[in-house]
Amino acid sequence: MTDGVVGLGVVGLGFMGRRYARFVSAIDGVRLAGVHDLDTARAEEVAVEFGATVYPDPDALACAADVAGVIVCTPEDRHEQPAVAALSAGKPLLVEKPVAHSLAAARAIAAAAERSGVPVLIGHLLRFEPRWVAARQRLDTGQIGEVVSISTRRVGNVRDQEVLRGRTTIPLYYGVHDLDVMRWFAGAEGVKIYAERRSGAPRSVGYDVEDLYCAIVSFENGVLGTAELGWHVPANALAARTSGVTVVGTRGLIRIEQGETGFESWTVDGPERALDTTFWLEAYGIPGGALGLEIRHFVACIRGRQAPTIALADAIEALRLSLAMEASAERGAPVDLRGFGRS
Ligand SMILES: NC(=O)c1ccc[n+]([C@@H]2O[C@H](COP(=O)([O-])OP(=O)(O)OC[C@H]3O[C@@H](n4cnc5c(N)ncnc54)[C@H](O)[C@@H]3O)[C@@H](O)[C@H]2O)c1
Repeated sequence: MTDGVVGLGVVGLGFMGRRYARFVSAIDGVRLAGVHDLDTARAEEVAVEFGATVYPDPDALACAADVAGVIVCTPEDRHEQPAVAALSAGKPLLVEKPVAHSLAAARAIAAAAERSGVPVLIGHLLRFEPRWVAARQRLDTGQIGEVVSISTRRVGNVRDQEVLRGRTTIPLYYGVHDLDVMRWFAGAEGVKIYAERRSGAPRSVGYDVEDLYCAIVSFENGVLGTAELGWHVPANALAARTSGVTVVGTRGLIRIEQGETGFESWTVDGPERALDTTFWLEAYGIPGGALGLEIRHFVACIRGRQAPTIALADAIEALRLSLAMEASAERGAPVDLRGFGRS
């Protein structure tokens, strides 16, 4: 495939899927060719808005001649079927994070990817956030020296549950992002993880999920990582989330602060929910942010001009670490990562 228009299909048209549909439709040389959602009214609505075809199931969408790649945005525990459908049809795949909710499902996707040999990309958005990429580049040049510690923080708002409704956990929803970053920046595999957690805020409004996890990860090269991950910021607090990372090395430090978006809007009713200015910002209908870069990269992979910047194996490792984080908090004891979840 070279210069023709690249048609993409999107499966799952909720919070993320609609955003992908809009971005895909707005990028030059790319079009939204097909959509599928269990909610057919939602699929029809998106198809009409962007001139796409509705397919009754993921297999039919994946097999369509004008679909050159498939983006899977179904809920976290429903990635496997549409992902395997795309790969079995020989179509490049972009699957949202976490790659799956279980290692068995992730490995089924990996087996299908191995058989098909087409590019696979995972929606680990921080790998496309220019500040995180700049940090990794500085670690590569050696200007920070040897990495000693990595501290990450991703604390969201209880309003996350308006979409999630208790369907996933903090390690699987947020942990995969930060544990992937930690491993990426450490440049080594994790050997041990210990986590504690507490609950209160989402349970008080009816969702059976924890508030917060705090974890310590040791890596085989001696790097120590800490993570604070939660979604317990009160609903009416100004920031939607507060997050970032600090990397300390033997010759320097890198700090990324993601909490302040640099934009506030207030009315007599109070603050507007914080505006995202890094992940999926757009102006004049032009898609930007990390999501804009991620989609353009996916298209470059389909055209054979780039290779995926994050391997499926990295996403599976992030999932394994996240499940180990959960297991550690459950057991109240450290988990040895060298054996955990190995098939
Ligand atoms: N990368 C990021 O920053 C980021 C941010 C938010 C969400 N996500 C991820 O994106 C994925 C989707 O999350 P969301 O918030 O858009 O969820 P959502 O609940 O808003 O949307 C999910 C959609 O999938 C549809 N659906 C459910 N089961 C289906 C099935 N079996 N086949 C087809 N359609 C089905 C639903 O009808 C709904 O339209 C999740 O994996 C989530 O963790 C990633």
